[in-house]
Amino acid sequence: MADDGLSALRASLAERLNALREVPVGELPPALLDVVVQRFAVSSQELVLVLPRVWEQLRHEEGGAGRPIPYWARPWPSGLALAASLVDEPVRRSHPPPRVLELGCGLGAPSVVAARSGAAVLATDGAADAVAFAAHALALNEVVADVAVVDWAAHGEALVELGPFDVVLAADVLYTRANVETALRLWPRLLGESGVLRLADPQRAGTRDFLAAARGTFSVVSQRQDDGVALHVLRPLRGGGA
Ligand SMILES: C[S@@+](CC[C@H](N)C(=O)[O-])C[C@H]1O[C@@H](n2cnc3c(N)ncnc32)[C@H](O)[C@@H]1O
Repeated sequence: MADDGLSALRASLAERLNALREVPVGELPPALLDVVVQRFAVSSQELVLVLPRVWEQLRHEEGGAGRPIPYWARPWPSGLALAASLVDEPVRRSHPPPRVLELGCGLGAPSVVAARSGAAVLATDGAADAVAFAAHALALNEVVADVAVVDWAAHGEALVELGPFDVVLAADVLYTRANVETALRLWPRLLGESGVLRLADPQRAGTRDFLAAARGTFSVVSQRQDDGVALHVLRPLRGGGA
C-alpha cells in the first residue's frame, strides 16, 4: 500500500479507536497505530488484513497501561484456517442471504470470506479495538458486513435476540474455562434448526471439553489439518439430542 494510503488508513483507525476507547486524540498506544497491511493466501483466495506491525510491542504497551493482552491483534492459524475452509466450502447462497455471525473475530479473516460469498455477516469481538481493525479489513477487501463489539459472556441475550443465525463462526476462542462454559449455554441458542456452527481451533483442552459436552445437542464432524488446527462442523440434533 502506498504511503498516503497507509497514512489515511492510520488516520481512519485512530478516529475509530479514539471513539471506541473514549480517550483524547494522542492517548492511543503508539504500537496500536503502527500498522501494516498484509496479504494472506486462504485456499484459492487472497485477502488483506490490517494489523499492528509488532504484536509484542503492543502487548508490552497494553500491559504497561493495565489493559488485557491483545490476543485479537494477530492473524492466528485458526482464523486463517477457518477462512480457507469457507473458501473451500462456502456458506450456501440463498434468498434472503444466509445470516452469519462471527464470534471473537479478531482481525476478521473468516468474516471477509463469508461476506465475499454473499452472506449477511455480523463480525463481533469483545475487544473494541478488534472490531475497529476488522471493520477496516472488510473495507479494504471491498466487502460489506456489519461489525459490533460483543462479549458473548456479557451480551449473550442481546445476541440471542438478534438471531437465529444460519452460520456461527468462531476461531480459537475456547481458551478459558469461562468461555467454554458460556459457549455451552449460549451458542446452541444462537442457531436456527438447520444452522451450523463452524469452529477452528489449535486443539486446545477447552475445545475438547466443549465438544465432549456439545455432543448431547449437536452432531460433530471434525477434521485435523497438518498445521495442528482442527476444524469442527456442528449441527443441532433434531429434537435437541438425548
Ligand atoms: C486467540 S484470538 C483469535 C482471533 C481470531 N478469531 C483468529 O483466529 O485470528 C481470541 C479472540 O477471541 C476474542 N474473545 C475471547 N473471549 C471472548 C468473549 N467472551 N466474547 C467475545 N470475544 C472474545 C478475543 O478478543 C480475541 O479476539
